[in-house]
Amino acid sequence: MSGEQIKELIEKALEMRNFSYTPYSHYNVGAAILAANGTIYTGCNIENASFTPSNCAERTAFFKAVSEGVKEFKAIAIVGGPDGAKELDYCPPCGVCRQVMSEFCRDDFTVICAKSVDKYKLYSLPEILPDRFGPKDLLG
Ligand code: THU
Repeated sequence: MSGEQIKELIEKALEMRNFSYTPYSHYNVGAAILAANGTIYTGCNIENASFTPSNCAERTAFFKAVSEGVKEFKAIAIVGGPDGAKELDYCPPCGVCRQVMSEFCRDDFTVICAKSVDKYKLYSLPEILPDRFGPKDLLG
């Protein structure tokens, strides 16, 4: 991953926060995934009055990609924070989203948690989800 690629993903994730539908939490999350084929898929969080159908930004982005036949990924950028926040803190991906990453991503998948285009932390998938249960456990 080049620095330019990382910045582009963070920029797109930041833009996606504008589309978050968060009338309950007012916490807006954006995500941008770089697929192995070079395409970027984006997502925002989408909440629901019944709460449990709510979807995180990361899963929105993954499901957009997979629903278009794309199942190999290199990296994801994630940004999140309260509506109207002047500065963002890091938004670590929730456990459910980590498990969805585990379904489609290899150990060299990079998770970029960002506060801005210049302030970010990089993690590999095993760092954020060690000893993961995945397709290998069922499919061999
Ligand atoms: N959220 C995400 O979109 N991604 C995460 O990894 C953490 C949480 C969303 C879900 C909900 O709409 C809001 O942030 C507050 O939990």
